[in-house]
Amino acid sequence: MKGVILAGGLGTRLQPMTRVTNKHLLPVYDRPMIYYPLQQLVHAGVRDVLVVTGGDSAGDFLKLLRNGGDFGLQHLRYAYQEGEGGIAEALGLAEFFAAGEPIVVILGDNIFQQPLRPAIDAFRRDPSGAMILLKEVDDPERFGVARVDGARVVEIIEKPTTPPSRLAVTGCYLYDARVFDIIKTLSPSRRGELEITDVNNRYIEWGAIRHHRVEGWWTDAGTIPSLHRASKLVADDRGNPVLTEMTPA
Ligand code: DAU
Repeated sequence: MKGVILAGGLGTRLQPMTRVTNKHLLPVYDRPMIYYPLQQLVHAGVRDVLVVTGGDSAGDFLKLLRNGGDFGLQHLRYAYQEGEGGIAEALGLAEFFAAGEPIVVILGDNIFQQPLRPAIDAFRRDPSGAMILLKEVDDPERFGVARVDGARVVEIIEKPTTPPSRLAVTGCYLYDARVFDIIKTLSPSRRGELEITDVNNRYIEWGAIRHHRVEGWWTDAGTIPSLHRASKLVADDRGNPVLTEMTPA
């Protein structure tokens, strides 16, 4: 399984910090934000990783992460997203890297307390269709939200004013190679972006999506309150290997 970390975008919700650097290089407690998704991938045994970034500070990712040696990797790959065309657009840049293999995608501003390995292993065993990870939250209107019918997810609604459930779609997604065909058919949303929610809804239409519930806490770190919250959650959980260990066991 190959891994993709999406770390593009302008980070406008974290201005003024993001006027001079990329959001994912900002600290979450004792390390740069992008370390957390990368640690999750190496912890799950993913050794082939692509970082998609953009903007004026893209070169700083190379300075920070180099060839991934600090994480026990032999190499890291990078792709550059021009502008801020959305999560699905950024993912489209991973097509050549994926080369037909299944992928696990993590948004660079998402932090998970518990290992993602169980979900990743489940997809390794049956790498067809898509898998999303859901977490019950108090503020679902900030996220993509799952509408469910029994145990089935029947639709995902992006940032609904009236959420159909409290189940947020977190920023970890697993896909087979068809994801790149779907991305090519998307049109920009009202916010002018290619939406990952549209990708996931296509898999739902095909009856080809599964979901996992996230154990432990989950947070994004893309707004001032959530960045603060993320630092506090990490600080209060020292000794948790997936938050602290950079190299695989
Ligand atoms: O955090 C989970 C949520 O992430 C999901 O519940 C939503 O369905 C999904 O749309 C997304 O919502 P946000 O509006 O919070 O996404 P944001 O624009 O903050 O982008 C999240 C990450 O995706 C960001 O840290 C880097 C990457 N990204 C984003 C954009 C817009 C890119 O790589 N390129 C982009 O153009």
